Formats: sequence, structure tokens, C-alpha cells
Amino acid sequence: MTGAPLRVGVLGAGTVGREVVGAFLDGDRAARLAPADGRPLRLAGVAVRDVDRARSAGLPDALLTDAPAHLVASPDVDVIVEVMGGLEPARTLLLGALSGGKAVVTANKALLATHGPELEAAARGSGAPLRFEASVGGGIPVLSPLAADLAANRVTSLRGILNGTTNAILTAMAREGTAYADALAEAQAMGYAEADPTADVEGHDAAAKLVILLRLAFGAWVDPTAIPRRPAVRDSASLGAPGITGVTAEDVAAATDHGRVLKLVASGRRREDGSLEAGVLPTAVFGATALGSTDGVQNRIEIEAEPVGSVAFAGPGAGGGATSSAVLGDLVAIARGGASTWAGLPAAVGRWDGGVSAPAGPALAAPSGACYPLAE
Ligand SMILES: NC(=O)c1ccc[n+]([C@@H]2O[C@H](COP(=O)([O-])OP(=O)(O)OC[C@H]3O[C@@H](n4cnc5c(N)ncnc54)[C@H](OP(=O)(O)O)[C@@H]3O)[C@@H](O)[C@H]2O)c1
Repeated sequence: MTGAPLRVGVLGAGTVGREVVGAFLDGDRAARLAPADGRPLRLAGVAVRDVDRARSAGLPDALLTDAPAHLVASPDVDVIVEVMGGLEPARTLLLGALSGGKAVVTANKALLATHGPELEAAARGSGAPLRFEASVGGGIPVLSPLAADLAANRVTSLRGILNGTTNAILTAMAREGTAYADALAEAQAMGYAEADPTADVEGHDAAAKLVILLRLAFGAWVDPTAIPRRPAVRDSASLGAPGITGVTAEDVAAATDHGRVLKLVASGRRREDGSLEAGVLPTAVFGATALGSTDGVQNRIEIEAEPVGSVAFAGPGAGGGATSSAVLGDLVAIARGGASTWAGLPAAVGRWDGGVSAPAGPALAAPSGACYPLAE
């Protein structure tokens, strides 16, 4: 352990933030936040909307503020952890931190997918590291391995189950023969799905995560709204319902008849001509494969690259504890002098303007009329 402590300001103390703060306040876990070859990490402040509520939840009064901008501007804070979510004020706060030379760790996939080019430009401009391992796959280490450990490879394709809520719903539909609306209500009752489930069930959350994976795999920030999320429909020029919202119990049964399960698969591929193929679509996957047997709230990401071949990353894709593991890992990396998550990859500071086409190929013609791509 060398040097003065690195002082950490945490923005947000909800599901993830509470666990991040808890690690600093628990002696055993705090000892892991002092790398042998880096600076020790110290908690300097926590910004929340409701200070009274945070105080009653046991957070020390001396650390609390309801003014995140003060924490970002404070000369007593070196690193900002953003776990508040949403686009604003998170965007303005992180741009302020990065342009002021402060390292940033964020779990906010919606923010990165929407404002990635701007945030990357700010980080590259000041040289401050921006790390975001927790934004994809929750606790699964996948972004740093993709950007750093696989840096000598040419990524040819990737695919994965990136959203635990939709996977839990589809798993329940397959196991119990439940209708979509009932499986969604059950997921909401169990706390897997939000009261407003739109971001999950319509595929926006998975599309945001796919944008981040595509940035690291193919060097381009794709507009998340350009990611196809609606399956083709038989005998119709228009597309089906977004995400898993059009999947029926009969569709799930038809997949089972073919030895397959329906999964919301996010996929991306760079074609030989340089164009991008990507999508977040209900996909008929062989049940006997590792992807097909990824059930409940688990996530799995598979990457094909040359010369390594196929590599896969699996584990808990959400939850406060699991996600805090990735946030804290990023903090330790910064304490050890680590750079941004994209490490030594070439800069990608503009938006990809080459268009994105949906994955093409054979499909399962389902009873609802939707045509779900068949996964190999
Ligand atoms: N939950 C997961 O499993 C998970 C997994 C991976 C990534 N993430 C990402 O991590 C981030 C946080 O998620 P979460 O589930 O922890 O959210 P959450 O439970 O809703 O917590 C958000 C926290 O931020 C605070 N906050 C929000 N806006 C604020 C503002 N303007 N000023 C001050 N404080 C503010 C909230 O304060 P109040 O409570 O006072 O409103 C709350 O403490 C999101 O970007 C999410 O996408 C979450």
C-alpha cells in the first residue's frame, strides 16, 4: 500500500450504492480496498436525495449530503462513483468530474449508451479514467476482459443474455406454461421486475448493454435506438412487439416442441464489408446449450474472437451485492493506477453512422405470427 488515500465520493445509496458504501464501512471488506501495490481507498462522502432516509438506514451523518454537485466539485474528493442512475443530472455531474480530472466509476448503462461518445471524449480530453464494469452483466467481469485481456484478438461476434428480468419471465413461462402477463406479475411480486417494466421487457436495458459491448468489441458507439428490438412477423411488412412483450405461451410451447427455449438474446457481428449486424430479439436457442440453460436472473455473454476462439462469461447479472463487486473492482483498479475500461483500444468519440441491420437467417415461425431467429 503506497501513497495518500484516494478519497471516494459516492452518488446514490440505493440498491447498488448501499452495498458499495457498506463495503467501506465494514472492517473486513474495507481491508480489501487497499491494494498492496496502490493507494488505499477511503470513503469521503455519499450524495442522496433524502438525507434523513439515508441516516435512518444507518449511513453516518458526517458522510451524507443532498448536493451531488458539491461532492463532484470538492477538493477533498478524488474519485466519483455514480450509482444514482438516469440521464440527468448524472451526465452533467460525470462530465464535470471527468473534465476536472477526477476518475469516475459508473454502473449506469443507460447513460453510457446514450452519451458514451461525449463521456469518452471528456475522459480522453483530461486523461481521467472512466470505468464501467458494472454497467454490463452486473457482477460478471466481462468488459475489462474484453477490452484488455482479449485486446490482441479480432472480435468476430458476440451474443448474450443481458437482462435478468426478462430471462426470469421467459424461464417461468417455459417451466410452468404461464402466460406472459402472469409471469410478469409474478416477477414484479418477487421484486425481479420494476413497477414500470418497460425498460426491461421492451429490450431497452439489454440494448444499452449491447451498445457498450459493441463499443469495446468493434470500436463504435452505436445509437441505442438503432438496435432492432422487434421480431419479424410472418406475412407482414410490419414488425412484431418489442422485446419479449409479444411472446405467448403458445410460442414458448412451439419452441419446446423443437427442443428449443425462447431467450431474449442480444447479439452483434461485424460483417466482412464493415457493416454492423445487431439485435435484441426473442431467439429460439437449443435448450441443451449453455445459453439455452441460462435460467432465471443469471446472465451469460459469449464472445467469438480470433485467435482465441470462443470464450464465455456467466454469473449474476444484477443485484446490489453482485453489482457492487464490479464497482469496487473498478475502484481498486483506479487505486492501482489503472486506466479507463477501454484500456488501450483506439478512441471512439463519434457516433457510428454506418447503420445497423437485424440478424438475418433461419427463424422459428411461431403461433403468434412472430418469426424468432434460430440460434446455432
Ligand atoms: N440494481 C442493480 O442490480 C443494478 C445492476 C447493474 C447496474 N445498475 C445500475 O446502477 C445504477 C443504480 O441502480 P440502483 O438499482 O442502485 O438504483 P436505486 O436503488 O434507484 O438507487 C438510486 C440512488 O440514487 C439516489 N439518487 C437518484 N437521483 C439522485 C439525485 N438527483 N441526487 C441525489 N441522489 C439521487 C437515490 O436517492 P433516493 O433514494 O433518495 O431517491 C438512490 O439512493 C443505475 O444506473 C442502474 O442501471 C443497477
